[in-house]
Amino acid sequence: MNIPKKVKMVEVGPRDGLQNEAETVPTSVKIELIDRLTDAGLPVIEATAFVSPKWVPQMADNAEVMAGIRRKPGVGYPVLVPNRQGLDAAIAAGCDEVVVFGAATEAFSKRNTNCTIAEGLARFSEVCAEALAQGLKVRGDISVCLGCPYEGEVRPEQVTRVARELFAMGCYEITIADTIGVGTPGKTRAVIEDVAKYVPVEKLAGHFHDTYGQALANTLAALECGVATFDSSVAGLGGCPYAKGATGNVASEDVLYMLDGLGIETGVDMRKLIAAGEFICGALGRPTLSRAARAIAAKAKTA
Ligand code: HMG
Ligand code: MG
Repeated sequence: MNIPKKVKMVEVGPRDGLQNEAETVPTSVKIELIDRLTDAGLPVIEATAFVSPKWVPQMADNAEVMAGIRRKPGVGYPVLVPNRQGLDAAIAAGCDEVVVFGAATEAFSKRNTNCTIAEGLARFSEVCAEALAQGLKVRGDISVCLGCPYEGEVRPEQVTRVARELFAMGCYEITIADTIGVGTPGKTRAVIEDVAKYVPVEKLAGHFHDTYGQALANTLAALECGVATFDSSVAGLGGCPYAKGATGNVASEDVLYMLDGLGIETGVDMRKLIAAGEFICGALGRPTLSRAARAIAAKAKTA
């Protein structure tokens, strides 16, 4: 198999994982989770979102989270920003990396950010210009790349059009997201191959929700296309409040188990990652969704 030898794992649990929780998660729990993920060796941890607290109340403590975490040199702590207001707040909170997030369909763009795709891109263009001028890094996420809860089928060209614009604005990485976890490996490959005609494949990342149990298969398909960056969520937490029924991201522990098995280097410590998952599951009062974490814990008990 011709696949990358090294993969960058981007942990999105503290943001994508927790944004969907109905009960307020204490800020201290979010901070401890991020610190534990740092200690587990994750090179990038999406920490929070500077979005409207009316839209996503769970992320309202964004500045407190950023002030409380222990930032390890060399580790990235990006935060979501939907507009200039979010960027200004993120900069005031000391962030040095932001994520703009668009969508491949009009209906999802409207539901998630209350604007058309073009209006969103115009906002991101301003955000990128200002962020880059101030020395921040900007990542660009694209939602519903493999299917939309409102419009159904999504063609690769719809994704490519947005990806090209985000890349031209100066996003250093473009994330292809399967928001509702409906994609399958052939479709994943088709989208990545189309986007890669215009954006180098080394600049692409996969972000797969696991609603239909396809996320690991899609990860492998993307790896085979040369993608070497993957978002995942510890314990498989998460979902998007504007994509009803969609489950969490693929569990970080499951991705790590697969990458370890393929001999791919990540720098992430499985034991500490599982412990971080146990910590957040304990705080939320629910079992992990990671199959690998469950299996490893069960084996440890019988050993
Ligand atoms: P809007 O209501 O059209 O905004 O929302 P507005 O500009 O008209 O402002 C209305 C109010 O919001 C004003 O306050 C603003 O100050 C405030 P008021 O005067 O009413 O008191 N406001 C803000 N407050 C804090 N931070 C801000 C901000 N902006 C405005 N940045 C808006 C438009 C984009 C703000 C809103 O739709 C929003 O915040 N959307 C975010 C939704 C979201 O966070 N979704 C989940 C993350 S995306 C995701 O999960 C997908 C991903 O994982 C990839 C995948 O899986 O697909 C990334
Ligand atoms: Mg997501």
